[in-house]
Amino acid sequence: MNLIQGHHHLTLCVGKAQEDYDFHVGLLGLRSVKKTVLFDGTVPIYHFYYGNENGDPSTLITCFPFEQAGVIGRKGTGQIKIVNLSAPSDSLDFWAKRLKAKGYAFKPFERFGEKGLHFEHPCGIEYEIVGDDKDTRKPWTTRETPASVAIKGLRGITVSLKDMDPQSEFMEVAFGARKTKTDGPCTRFEMGVGGAGCIVDFVREPDLAQGTWTFGAGTPHHCAFKVDNADKQKQFKDFVEGIGYTDVSDVKDRNYFHSVYFRTPGGALFEAAYSIPESFEIDEKRSEFGDHFMLPPWLEDRRDELMAKLEPIEYETSSVIAAAR
Ligand SMILES: [Fe+2]
Repeated sequence: MNLIQGHHHLTLCVGKAQEDYDFHVGLLGLRSVKKTVLFDGTVPIYHFYYGNENGDPSTLITCFPFEQAGVIGRKGTGQIKIVNLSAPSDSLDFWAKRLKAKGYAFKPFERFGEKGLHFEHPCGIEYEIVGDDKDTRKPWTTRETPASVAIKGLRGITVSLKDMDPQSEFMEVAFGARKTKTDGPCTRFEMGVGGAGCIVDFVREPDLAQGTWTFGAGTPHHCAFKVDNADKQKQFKDFVEGIGYTDVSDVKDRNYFHSVYFRTPGGALFEAAYSIPESFEIDEKRSEFGDHFMLPPWLEDRRDELMAKLEPIEYETSSVIAAAR
């Protein structure tokens, strides 16, 4: 099957809301694309979306600040391990200086012949900025992070697993992905047109205990991949179930996109998603993405109750950030 085109969004369970917002918007210079709440469960939790100028699929990182609910995750195998971001290769010096100035420890690394910087989100999730001059996605820019250094969004993910072979089979047969590189315990798959936004790396860690699969602060929860539309999503779901991977959810309405979740053989939770035509413009103008707290129609009548249970955060609106450039 060849229905998966690349990344749609990556979803993390982080710690505190303000800390997460300041990390992604203040430190990394990503755009706040949407502020809403988790649609599942009964405990109100924020859902923050970060990405590029347009909030394009593949650039997006979304976060549930789960520390408020008192649920802490455990990192391990069978789980997404590293958030890989891309920026121009000659911006790595800028990012090294910026991380140091803001008090973040980092380590330069080279993997698959690519250079980058490794550091951590305050909640402990691992991040990397990788130099990639072939990434043509248009970034959001700020006064402190102009286009010459701006992060273009999610480049890929690194998934920890114990055994590569069952996951390789899934990636090739269900995803139609191509194994493109290996480097020691690491294996790269690319899908669609390949490159930034179409990369999934796996690292084999057979001696590491399994990580948690629940929502839990300090752990990535799932990664969503892009399919064209509802028909392609159904074809994908039917195909995956038909070859025996029956741990697949029903279609869920996420207001901005529609989602099907499935557990992969290596343990990580993946999703197939397609954006609705209006995407994030269904409830905010593009120039005001992230400026307001938005709720889907079916939660709007509970706005006061939900917002009262969420710790307020301080933020600058998109127009203020744009005007300061
Ligand atoms: Fe998702």
